[in-house]
Amino acid sequence: MAKLTDISWEDFSTLYLESKKPYLERQDGSLMPYHTLFAQQFDRNILERLCSLANRIRFINKSKEGALYLKNVLAHKRAMLYFSQPSSRTFLSHLAACQLLGITTGSVRDAATSSEFKGESHEDSIRTFSSYFDMIIMRSPERGLAEKMAWELSNSERPIPILNAGSGKDQHPTQALLDIYTLIRSFENKGGLDGRTVVFCGDLLRGRTVRSLSYLLTDFNDIKQIFVAPKELQVPDDVIEILKKKNIRFEIGDDLREATKIADAVYMTRIQDEWDESKGESAKIDTSRFKFRAEELALLGKESIIMHPLPRRDEIDTCCDHDPRAMYWRQMRNGMWIRAALIASSFGFERTIMDCGY
Ligand code: ASP
Ligand code: CP
Repeated sequence: MAKLTDISWEDFSTLYLESKKPYLERQDGSLMPYHTLFAQQFDRNILERLCSLANRIRFINKSKEGALYLKNVLAHKRAMLYFSQPSSRTFLSHLAACQLLGITTGSVRDAATSSEFKGESHEDSIRTFSSYFDMIIMRSPERGLAEKMAWELSNSERPIPILNAGSGKDQHPTQALLDIYTLIRSFENKGGLDGRTVVFCGDLLRGRTVRSLSYLLTDFNDIKQIFVAPKELQVPDDVIEILKKKNIRFEIGDDLREATKIADAVYMTRIQDEWDESKGESAKIDTSRFKFRAEELALLGKESIIMHPLPRRDEIDTCCDHDPRAMYWRQMRNGMWIRAALIASSFGFERTIMDCGY
């Protein structure tokens, strides 16, 4: 079995993402992730198992006895939430997921309040957290930081799992998990997710959720992906390369209304202007045709859905919020369940929960 201790950082960091997967798995043969770093480490089997576990956890949690059982499952574990970039949902849903499973948590939400402010390196900070906790859930503006930290920790005396809760413009794998969970649930009694058309709209260039979800969708059969954006914010080449390599149907366009007519799911995203290289650069782009309003809602199929990783600005009009096809609030709550499933699996508790008597 491949281990992160068997490979140098230089060799590991230059592998294709898919080839890194075996190094990130638990060593118990379950194939579940130990470290969760990017979407490429999930295949359909793991995705479906995680979704089943999330469903199981939400069912068990409905009764008081079940909720108390869950609270005991990982009561011997502690998790550190290390978020050096703003977050509402990802922070809180991981926190709530830990609470559901009885995990005690600690947090740093601003590097200026940790000793990084005094010049401590990320490596030393992470080593410090690993002295007190059994898992690190981290969000960072730095691309690839979670990956480096996972390698460092695996090669330390106290290896513990790292969950990437968003890294730079690059990846947001746990968001993609909750997006897939939402898609699977939305279509489970309507013929399933295979063969569907998913439209991505907005800032596809800098939106990390798009890159992670676009990849996970390739694990399903015959899903068509349509990318609708102003040309300055169109989906980057690395995403397209993967789709071509995997022979996935895709289109690139700029007509949200036409795309909405044939969409099973429309995945809206906000303009990620925090990444502007010069101030006000995004504001100069005409984004007026990349908003979902009453006109687009009227064109959407009866069984189709609207998604958004959130937070939103004005790219989905609030007039859509009460429509049964608006899935973004449920999507957000699904995040808590699927993250609980992921955390439990990373600690090796998938079967314990699946097979419990509740
Ligand atoms: N919350 C998501 C992220 O952190 C999407 C966004 O911020 O627009 O990537
Ligand atoms: N979707 C998401 O990651 O939201 P936050 O940035 O609020 O965590």
